[in-house]
Amino acid sequence: MQLARTVYSADGRVLLSAGVVIKESYIDRLRKLGFPAVYVGDPVEAEAFREAVRESTRRRAIAVVKRSFNEVKLGSSLQLEPIAQVVNDIVDEVVANREVILPLTDIRSHDEYTFGHSVNVCIISVMLGIALELDDLTLRDLAMGAILHDVGKVKVPEEILLKPAPLTSKEWTEMRKHTLYGFQLLRGGDGVSSRAAHVAYQHHERSDGSGYPRALAGNGIHLFAKIVAVADTYDAMTSDRIYRKGVTPFAALKVIKELASEESGQLDKHVVDTFLANVVPYPPGSKVRLNTGEVGMVVGKGANSFDSVMVEVKYDAYGRALSKPTIITVLNMRVAHMV
Ligand SMILES: [Fe+2]
Repeated sequence: MQLARTVYSADGRVLLSAGVVIKESYIDRLRKLGFPAVYVGDPVEAEAFREAVRESTRRRAIAVVKRSFNEVKLGSSLQLEPIAQVVNDIVDEVVANREVILPLTDIRSHDEYTFGHSVNVCIISVMLGIALELDDLTLRDLAMGAILHDVGKVKVPEEILLKPAPLTSKEWTEMRKHTLYGFQLLRGGDGVSSRAAHVAYQHHERSDGSGYPRALAGNGIHLFAKIVAVADTYDAMTSDRIYRKGVTPFAALKVIKELASEESGQLDKHVVDTFLANVVPYPPGSKVRLNTGEVGMVVGKGANSFDSVMVEVKYDAYGRALSKPTIITVLNMRVAHMV
C-alpha cells in the first residue's frame, strides 16, 4: 500500500512522505507515536481532493497552540502574536479555497486532542464565517476566538482533563470553569478583541438556556460563540478520545441537525443550516458501498440536502470493475456505508 498523504509529526516535521510504500516497520512506529490511521492510495488521486487548509499549516498551528498553552500552564502570560500569525495563514487559505468543501475527517494522535481540536474548530468556524458572509476583519477576529476557545483548560487540573472515564459532578463543576478561566486569560489582552474573548466565555452556552456558565439564551449569546459551539460540537463528536471512538461525520451531522430543531433548540438554527449546506458527510475520496451493492468513490457534494453526495460508481454488486465508471447523485447517504 502506498501512503496517499504525507504524515507529519506533532511539531510539523515530515515523518513519511506521500507516495512511500508502507512497510510493517512504519506501521509499528506510527502506532507507537499514537497515529490511529493514515491515508492510503494514490497520492496523485488524493491531490485532487484538496483540503481547505494545508496539512503543513494545520500542523504548524497545532505546534503553536501547544507551545502557547504550555507556556501559560507554566505561569507565563499568553503570547498572542505567534497565534495571530498562524490564524491569519489559516484564514488566508480557507478564503482562497472557499470552493473546497471541507473534508470532514481528521487523523491525529490522542494526546494532542486539545491542540488539534482547537485548530479544527478554528478552521470549521472560519468556513462557517465565510458561508455566513462575515467580512475579512470579522473573520480574523472570529478565528482568533475560535482557536483560543478552550485556552481556559490550561487552568483545569490534568487528572480531570485527561480522565479516561466519565467525570464526577465535582469534577464537572471544575471542568466547566474552563470557560471563565479562558475569558479571564483573554480579556483585555493585546491582540484579542472583546468579542473573541467572549467566545471562550460563551461557547458552551446554548440557545435554549441550557448551557453554562451563565445559562444565557437566544440573542444573549454572541454570534461568534454560536458559530464556535457548532464547530466545537461537531469536531468533539467526530474525534476519537481515550474513552470512546468518534462517530462518523454523517452521524454527527444528524445529531447537530437535531440539536437545532424546534424541540431541542440548543444550537442556533441559522448557523446549523449554513453548516449543513456547506459540508459533505462523506469526504471526497471516501470509498462507499451503496445499498445496491455497488462500490464507488465520493467525488463531491450533491444537491441541497446535507445527506446527498455525488458518487463515482466503479464496481458493480459482484465486485467487477465497470469499464466506464458512472457518476451518480446519491440522495440519501443513509443507504451507503464507508468501506
Ligand atoms: Fe470548551
